[in-house]
Amino acid sequence: MIPPPLENALYGIHATHALRLADRHGVFTHLLRHGPATAPAAAAELGLDAETLERLMLLLKVSGLLADAGGGRYELPAGTADFLAPDGPRYLGGFVEHLVTDASRQLELLDGYLTHGKDAVDADLPDAFARIHRDGASTERFLAAMWQLSHHASDRLAELADLGTVTRLVDVGGANGPFAVAALRRHPALRATVFDLPEVEPFLKAKRSEHGLDDRLDFRAGDFFRDELPPGDCFAFGYVLSDWSDATCLDLLRSAHRACAPGGRVLVMDRLFDEDRDGPLGAAVMNLSMHVETQGRHRSAREYAGLLEAAGFTACEVRRSDGDKHLVTARRS
Ligand SMILES: C[S@@+](CC[C@H](N)C(=O)[O-])C[C@H]1O[C@@H](n2cnc3c(N)ncnc32)[C@H](O)[C@@H]1O
Repeated sequence: MIPPPLENALYGIHATHALRLADRHGVFTHLLRHGPATAPAAAAELGLDAETLERLMLLLKVSGLLADAGGGRYELPAGTADFLAPDGPRYLGGFVEHLVTDASRQLELLDGYLTHGKDAVDADLPDAFARIHRDGASTERFLAAMWQLSHHASDRLAELADLGTVTRLVDVGGANGPFAVAALRRHPALRATVFDLPEVEPFLKAKRSEHGLDDRLDFRAGDFFRDELPPGDCFAFGYVLSDWSDATCLDLLRSAHRACAPGGRVLVMDRLFDEDRDGPLGAAVMNLSMHVETQGRHRSAREYAGLLEAAGFTACEVRRSDGDKHLVTARRS
């Protein structure tokens, strides 16, 4: 018997591809709408090859990603619909697509990193966000994945952030607005500015209109390494500090400290390593991904607190959600 951790690592690649294909071809949606089905029945409805779909669904069942409904029929296991239904609040389809297409290509760089070092390999490559924003289609794919990853979590994070007394939220690297939109919907008197690269502007404007927030959500185009941040009394960094080195994070946090009104706050929303670095698995996986996709890494709550204090913030507090993204908040005295 191959030990289970080794078996998962060996065969996980097949399960990931099966998950992506079942999502792309509407298999999960079909099971959700029409109930349990055999592979030939689902294949006939979806116009797919029955033999291929049978093998795919069998692997998904053996991997625990589909359940046996009896009579050769498959169904979604309890508790997975929110993640697998394209209109589910925690839908992961865009993230799986990103892992299989962009991230796995990037992982091939690790071999060169091991032998020549990251700096030597990256010297010949474009900067991470120049690559992501190389054309409108790539920006759109990236922002769709960010929205899927962040918007549902943002409802809870906006609640944890306790924004009742905030008047102007500045969402630094706020993308197409997953956090700003959640915060504005929770607090009708709040106004927000998303500060991000100019390529992001049309996508933020589209989301803002979709959510009826044209009058309360501004976009400020800029480069946070060259431009001062707009003023506000609360500065959000969601999945931004994990893109950068400690030295760069310190520059960004100092810039937020300069722009922040006295008594205002900063919100760092990110994955958190356990202090002993025993997990969670998602942080360890994305920590490796950050190495090849960006200049960053994942940190523990204590490491973020150290950066916030070094940038001049005080009264650091950690507030955990039940998901992957947590909140570390501090105050500008
Ligand atoms: C990983 S995304 C985070 C999106 C969002 N805050 C969230 O929580 O999902 C990082 C964001 O930082 C923006 N960004 C990267 N470099 C930047 C720069 N130099 N100036 C301003 N924004 C930048 C990217 O365009 C992107 O929207």
